[in-house]
Amino acid sequence: ARAALGSRNLILVGLMGAGKSAVGRIVASQLAIPFVDSDLEIERVSRMTIPELFAAYGEEEFRALETRVMKRLLKSGPRVVSTGGGAFINERTRKHIKKGGLSVWLKADLDVLWERVNKRDTRPLLKTENPKQTLENLMNARYPIYAQADITVLSRDVRKEIMADEVLKAMI
Ligand code: S3P
Repeated sequence: ARAALGSRNLILVGLMGAGKSAVGRIVASQLAIPFVDSDLEIERVSRMTIPELFAAYGEEEFRALETRVMKRLLKSGPRVVSTGGGAFINERTRKHIKKGGLSVWLKADLDVLWERVNKRDTRPLLKTENPKQTLENLMNARYPIYAQADITVLSRDVRKEIMADEVLKAMI
């Protein structure tokens, strides 16, 4: 799998709770290449948390910052990069991702996603009256776009090491 990548990046896309960061970290260590979480990178350069950024500047500014950070992260490789759920949905960011390497969509069903995001309170987009419904709406709107990733791997309710293995197998 490492040879298949060459100097390209491996970029994980998909909704919140799909396991992009957890799986990405393991895949990177298996491939012995660096791992970067783009949300953490955005927080590092802005010195603000994602909820703070959304509250202070709104989603549009957040997307502009996300585009710049992704562009820079993807300039050199190989790396494993996990993205925020909206990154691949944004047209400009998606272009950088497509150019920057192999994109992998971690596709999960609503209950798997909900089970995971429900436990944490860090997603500004889910601060709605009915967050599960919001998540379902996001699935419906975004799944046709995530489907443009190079590879799709089904994210199931199994250990993240197993998911990482499936990503590695799908790359070859
Ligand atoms: C977002 C997903 C989040 C984060 C921001 C917006 C989205 O990342 O970038 O809250 O639009 O789906 P995760 O997918 O890592 O939760």
